[in-house]
Amino acid sequence: MDVMVNGAARAVAREWRDESALHWLRESQGLVGAKFGCGVGICGACTVWLDGAPVRSCLTPVAQCASRQVTTVEGLAQGSKLHPVQQAWLDHSVPQCGYCQSGQIMAAAALLRDVKQPTDAQIDEALSGHLCRCGTQARVREAVKTAARRIGGAA
Ligand code: FES
Ligand code: FES
Repeated sequence: MDVMVNGAARAVAREWRDESALHWLRESQGLVGAKFGCGVGICGACTVWLDGAPVRSCLTPVAQCASRQVTTVEGLAQGSKLHPVQQAWLDHSVPQCGYCQSGQIMAAAALLRDVKQPTDAQIDEALSGHLCRCGTQARVREAVKTAARRIGGAA
């Protein structure tokens, strides 16, 4: 069984086939951007894309990803060029401890793919399922707006 991860096929060894996608990505594939927070679908720290849609990888069996496209935060950049959301995160110094941030970034990037100039309400809704105990929400919102402007061609 293969899963396409960040554009390349990766084989899932037999002993991993009953595991979550999060566990497989982190412990078998060395992709540790997605984090284990709650493990029950509440915090959003484990968010990756499955066929382009944000999912909670802690609740997603890796078997469900067979022959599908998984994108992790490690796959957002194009070579050495960061995704506009990642760059905006740096420019706004969004992360504090950082634990929730890859999930937030994956949610934000999915939002901006679908909604070019989101309102505050749309940003808040897209990120509402992402818990941040460090209180970065205000910077998250500003960084999403900056990324939206850049994607739209403004400075
Ligand atoms: S670790 Fe998956 S939602 Fe919290
Ligand atoms: S930056 Fe620490 S939990 Fe969000």
